[in-house]
Amino acid sequence: MDNDRPMLVLGIETTCDETAASVVERKPDGVGRILSNIVRSQTEEHARFGGVVPEIAARAHVDVLDHLIETAMTEAGVDYAQLSGVAAAAGPGLIGGVIVGLTTAKAIAMVHNTPLIAVNHLEAHALTPRLTCALAFPYCLFLASGGHTQIVAVAGVGQYVRLGTTVDDAMGEAFDKVAKMLALPYPGGPQVERAAAGGDPTRFSFPRPMLGRADANFSLSGLKTAVRNEISRLAPLEPKDISDLCASFQAAVLESTADRLSVGLRLFEEKFGPPRALVAAGGVAANQAIRGALQDVAAKAQTTLIIPPPALCTDNGAMIAWAGAERLALGMCDAMDAPPRARWLLDANAAVPAGFANSRAGF
Ligand code: KG4
Ligand code: ZN
Repeated sequence: MDNDRPMLVLGIETTCDETAASVVERKPDGVGRILSNIVRSQTEEHARFGGVVPEIAARAHVDVLDHLIETAMTEAGVDYAQLSGVAAAAGPGLIGGVIVGLTTAKAIAMVHNTPLIAVNHLEAHALTPRLTCALAFPYCLFLASGGHTQIVAVAGVGQYVRLGTTVDDAMGEAFDKVAKMLALPYPGGPQVERAAAGGDPTRFSFPRPMLGRADANFSLSGLKTAVRNEISRLAPLEPKDISDLCASFQAAVLESTADRLSVGLRLFEEKFGPPRALVAAGGVAANQAIRGALQDVAAKAQTTLIIPPPALCTDNGAMIAWAGAERLALGMCDAMDAPPRARWLLDANAAVPAGFANSRAGF
């Protein structure tokens, strides 16, 4: 790869319920620029089922992806012949959707004789602050979405150490399930936040999962069950009950998150020294109360909190294109038999950063 010229990379995202395509430029000095970023959410298709239906998601990706890619290329004013590479999220995610995006990227790569980059969706979230504010390594990522809840040390491109993860439900999933139990519409996170705003967070003393544990893992299913039990005890619910239940649930999530993250940041510092920043990403990072808690955690750990703009926190094509560009700049591209993966651990094949020979021990 000629690193003296700006790169142009097309990125495709289809791992869950957003179909997205974007063209991103990466200058030789590592500075990025988004030329187009088109996202089509499938919320409407899934709303009446109260959650994402994998088969519906895959079909909806097929219906709109070609058109989205055309729009992204046109809006960017870029011709296929100018592309330095095409990147697709090759997992982890719903396998039907992953196949749609990766196969499309392979077809474009073959027809236009351009490199393919099979991007790990989690890596794309992890590298986003380098696109938005050229953040230097190493930094600590808190990723909380409908499918993931992880604390990850980001030491370099391809160099990730997972410091903590959920042992059961993802955080966004817990918000969605609580919303469903309370008959609030899908997706539930924003609804729970809204209801919580008017509620009493002290009325119910729900468990604070994993509080005080030495590892940085999360658990949300016990908390969800406690909410369910309380709902059964109270039924039928008054509006005030719903607000108080949401506020009390959110308070438990906040306290648990603050505790888990402070442990995660301590583990980070032991392995990598002080982080350049604490970065939050994923749909849950849109929650104002959680943002406040993260701000406190970062201040206590004497680091800066960075939250990319909402459109780049949730699933999008620009993050895939950017991760592709970062890999391409290091000569990392993939063969045409790159597999779609439903599961793909971020640190499974991670090289241990120089000087941190034991950094994967115990993870
Ligand atoms: O990152 P994202 O858009 O999609 C993936 O899951 O990949 O995250 C969506 C998740 C959903 O579970 C949604 O309920 C949750 O993020 N979420 C929120 C809020 N906004 C979105 N959870 C809590 N509070 C919010 N304001
Ligand atoms: Zn995501």
